[in-house]
Amino acid sequence: MNSLKSVMRSVSRVTPTLSRALHSGTRTSSSAASRAKRVERPLTSDEVYTREQRYGAHNYHPLPVALERGEGVFVWDVEGRRYFDFLSAYSAVNQGHCHPKIISALTAQASRLTLTSRAFYNDVLGAYEQYITSLFGYDKVLPMNTGVEGGETACKLARKWAYTVKGVPKYEAKIIFAMGNFWGRTMAAISSSTDPSSYDGFGPFMPGFHLVPYNDIPALEKALQDPHVAAFMVEPIQGEAGVIVPDAGYLTRVRELCTKHNASNTTHTLYISGGDVCVTASVCVYGVRPDLLVLGKALSGGVYPVSAVLCDDEVMLTIKPGEHGSTYGGNPLACQVAIAALEVLEEEKLAENAERMGAILRAELRKLPREIVSVVRGKGLLNAIIIKESKDYDAWRVCLRLRENGLLAKPTHSDIIRFAPPLIIKEDEIRECVDIISRTIMSF
Ligand SMILES: Cc1ncc(COP(=O)(O)O)c(C=O)c1O
Repeated sequence: MNSLKSVMRSVSRVTPTLSRALHSGTRTSSSAASRAKRVERPLTSDEVYTREQRYGAHNYHPLPVALERGEGVFVWDVEGRRYFDFLSAYSAVNQGHCHPKIISALTAQASRLTLTSRAFYNDVLGAYEQYITSLFGYDKVLPMNTGVEGGETACKLARKWAYTVKGVPKYEAKIIFAMGNFWGRTMAAISSSTDPSSYDGFGPFMPGFHLVPYNDIPALEKALQDPHVAAFMVEPIQGEAGVIVPDAGYLTRVRELCTKHNASNTTHTLYISGGDVCVTASVCVYGVRPDLLVLGKALSGGVYPVSAVLCDDEVMLTIKPGEHGSTYGGNPLACQVAIAALEVLEEEKLAENAERMGAILRAELRKLPREIVSVVRGKGLLNAIIIKESKDYDAWRVCLRLRENGLLAKPTHSDIIRFAPPLIIKEDEIRECVDIISRTIMSF
């Protein structure tokens, strides 16, 4: 136990022994690490990369930048260099890094009560449930932790509803997904994926999942003829696919079709929408109300994993005690954080700011040479550009040079770069970022 504590204490400082082990790639036993003298000097970026490479699974390929601090739209690396964060942890940090209101909610609750499990009641969960259901206009909420658990929960609710309400024969329910979807990494999520890097090598896959092209109403209409379809699950904007925004009216038609394809006079195919909390909030604002709304990411402003599924009683009450849940789901810490994070979205009018700043960003990016930046697309502050690859540049190399110029962004699919700064970004900052992006692109 003592040696474990020593290793934990030494993780953010490098010691001669540890440093030698990192660079030689040799095994360091925990007792060797604990014997090493502590607190010599802070780690360099290279040492941070090497240590993760040495001790962590290689399931990510991070941009080489080692961050140690964040505030608002900025992050700083271990050498003290400052960057605009144009990824925002895949939009989870939409409220900005370490937002004071969210951090204060976290710390206040952390010293009072963190976890009870759902074996007992706690005095915060109900307040959160009341707040979030009235904010989004649903009867009930089911709290989970990660985004993918939200998606899994929605699939389970859809299947249970199909058997108990819609009358689909037991275990014959189908769920339709849109091609190019991304909702996480569990077996169910990858079973609906069309991206080989997500699913290849991990079968056998979940039965009862079917695909239609995204943004294709006739294909969906055809698929919905099958009376065994329980639900259509779709992102209002496909983020990981490269920020694909559907045609105006697509979500309205999805809603109409799911309602139309009744199994009886009272039930219909469920429409499940998932994604970032601001995107989904605007889905509701635009008058398209999914039957199940899956929220994650910015639901906690990036300080704690919090996700949720919202729906009405007809669906939610099909799941009975003991049939679904999570040890951490709905814990008081998560609930206080989520209330604060949602209040920040409302109080600071972040959806409105995103709309204005996003329009400026896209208008400026569209002035870049088409031979390099062939497409600019997005909505609000969820945007992407497509880099026309050449032997001199590709999305990865553009991101490396953006980093040199003080802006962090991450490629997706070799030729696409996502530009999604925190929604708190101000006009002078977005213009400074446009300047960095333009200078970078023009330098190729
Ligand atoms: C739309 C959508 N759903 C779900 C997820 C998965 O969330 P998590 O990584 O928290 O499980 C993501 C992650 O990028 C996402 O973009």
